[in-house]
Amino acid sequence: MTPDLLKLPHYREQSPEVAARFERLRKRPIVMEVRALTKRFSTPRGEVTALDAVSFSVHRREFMCVIGASGCGKSTLARLLAGLETPTSGEALLDGRPVRGPGPDRGMVFQGYTLFPWLTVKGNVMFGPRMSGRSGPAAEQDARQWIDLVGLSRFENAYPHQLSGGMKQRVAIARALANRPRVLLMDEPFGALDAQTRSQMQHYLLQIWKNVDVTIVFITHDLDEAVYLADRILVLDPHPGRVREVVEVPVPRPRSPDQFLTPPFLSVRRHLDTLIHPPSEKQAQRDLPIVRLTEVGDDVE
Ligand SMILES: Nc1ncnc2c1ncn2[C@@H]1O[C@H](COP(=O)(O)OP(=O)(O)O)[C@@H](O)[C@H]1O
Ligand SMILES: [Mg+2]
Repeated sequence: MTPDLLKLPHYREQSPEVAARFERLRKRPIVMEVRALTKRFSTPRGEVTALDAVSFSVHRREFMCVIGASGCGKSTLARLLAGLETPTSGEALLDGRPVRGPGPDRGMVFQGYTLFPWLTVKGNVMFGPRMSGRSGPAAEQDARQWIDLVGLSRFENAYPHQLSGGMKQRVAIARALANRPRVLLMDEPFGALDAQTRSQMQHYLLQIWKNVDVTIVFITHDLDEAVYLADRILVLDPHPGRVREVVEVPVPRPRSPDQFLTPPFLSVRRHLDTLIHPPSEKQAQRDLPIVRLTEVGDDVE
């Protein structure tokens, strides 16, 4: 263990610069407000409470991550915010207006590749603006700008099947942003990518976020990804999905992979780990009911 790890600060210990950053963030207007959002599903095995009175708010141009164990209601939350599901009770407000259905003010990027395979990169990015009545040439000009922003100008006439997974997700981001959403909702968007591409995509996303007036709600189950990207992290408890804590990430910006081993990064990472994997659960996972299939005394270390 490195000396830094031994004297790891608690994640709440913030430098004056970081404290000032959160002070400024709190002063920003609230774009998305979630009030006691509850969602129950009826299933053949009875009723499932996917989300139970979840409340939080996201400020303008904040990067908020949502983490939690599998099945804790992350995707349900994304679908409710997108207006693809209706809540059992509670509500989500965007700029003070209740979300009643899907709308161009919210862009979605999912893990699965959702591009139209019969359209080129440019065709995919133009699709939303064309549907909302923008003229062909204007939509095309806009599309070029978004394609440039995600670094794919050379591929504007390529079809999705000609692109790598990472490139497809960059097009998906450009397509979502082309509608000029207030909020970009991302549900494990890099979950299917290999580790190296994923890390590259995280870097691209931070650059894009910096250059575009958009607020991001990013769902992941990867703790490092959440710490690397977020201003704040909403931690959900499973069954029923409830807000466990909202964690302020004290890691300075601009972020870089070099920060993964710094004390602020490790302290928040460790805090998240204890929230998501309580010590009792860890112990239970470690101790397998082992049946010995070796000679007596033939031990390995
Ligand atoms: N359409 C549905 N019908 C019934 N149960 C559902 C439905 N969608 C989600 N659930 C249940 O709600 C809970 C939360 O699911 P989900 O939001 O997909 O979790 P996560 O994305 O965090 O893995 C799970 O127990 C899941 O089985
Ligand atoms: Mg999910």
